[in-house]
Amino acid sequence: MQDQYRRQIEYLRISITDRCNLRCKYCMPAEGVQWIPHERILTYEEILRVMRISTTLGFRRFRITGGEPLIRAGVLEFLQNASQIPGVEDLMLTTNGILLADMAEDLKKAGVNRVNISLDTFNEDRFRELTRGGDIKKVFQGIHRSLEVGLHPVKLNVVVVRDFNSHELPRFMELARDYPLHVRFIELMPIGISSDKRSDFVSIDEMKAILGLEGLKATHDIQGGGPAEYITSEGFKGSVGFISAISKHFCSTCNRIRLTPDGKLRLCLHSSKEVDFREVLRSNKSDNEVRDVFAQAIWNKPAEHHMNDQAWQDQRIMSQIGG
Ligand code: GTP
Ligand code: 5AD
Ligand code: SF4
Repeated sequence: MQDQYRRQIEYLRISITDRCNLRCKYCMPAEGVQWIPHERILTYEEILRVMRISTTLGFRRFRITGGEPLIRAGVLEFLQNASQIPGVEDLMLTTNGILLADMAEDLKKAGVNRVNISLDTFNEDRFRELTRGGDIKKVFQGIHRSLEVGLHPVKLNVVVVRDFNSHELPRFMELARDYPLHVRFIELMPIGISSDKRSDFVSIDEMKAILGLEGLKATHDIQGGGPAEYITSEGFKGSVGFISAISKHFCSTCNRIRLTPDGKLRLCLHSSKEVDFREVLRSNKSDNEVRDVFAQAIWNKPAEHHMNDQAWQDQRIMSQIGG
């Protein structure tokens, strides 16, 4: 369906848990966060109902996120049910990859089309430091397994942080040259724990300058509905993508809304304006009535984010929104 700015909204990102088996430094504080209590988390039945209702409004693409979605009990059965809903054309997952090696095959069988995997460094020690204890070998195994079982295109998400991984960009580009992987460099967003880290920010233009992109050309062949712009070259098996959430934001062509684990409809990643949809789902409303509330919320989707505004603040951290 269209919103009031005539954007076609057909992509629903569903965060099924705020919990995570890592605690990345740009996402969570060292002491972790207070998890949302169980009774406030949407049940799988409630999420499936939202999906069914959204397909009647033209939603076709669904991305399951977290926290880390693969740690929620029963996730495979949920995905199986989700993939069978008529109108669900693309069922995708964004994961930190730690559990992927063991689960990739089952995900494929459950009807997941493809995965995006977060990987911010190649260095084992630095990965452990960034994620506060994560084992990078598990992520590498997960990436291999995802390629083997055909969860492609497999995309990697690299959040670029100054003096942490900015010098690793050329190495990531080599990965895209040598493997059928689509490596996307993401501008650090001032969200939650990262909100006062503006000095760590590296713009897409600066990333491109670090990489030196002579001989590479833009490509539109990569399957996806996200905001990344991709470039590739003849010798490349994969591609390099850029997600310029801050420096050249893509709000005017935004096609998505989010459902948080506690059932809030988040109409923009960066707007704390949320609609409490859990209340609506747990009232006695019929599917048609629920659909009207959903449609009204989408109509009111904000025109753009205000993250470039120095005074901008948001209480939620990324794992509670779903990236
Ligand atoms: P595909 O391109 O379809 O593969 O997916 P995607 O890029 O939408 O999904 P993914 O979960 O991998 O998102 C990658 C990153 O893009 C996120 O971590 C965010 O940093 C950024 N992003 C996704 N959606 C938005 C959005 O609505 N606004 C902004 N500013 N950034 C977003
Ligand atoms: N800025 C940009 N991207 C972020 N992610 C988490 N926190 C931030 C942030 N502050 C990314 C993760 C993951 C995706 C879901 O969100 O790396 O790839
Ligand atoms: Fe977990 Fe992703 Fe946050 Fe890292 S960025 S702690 S993997 S939710």
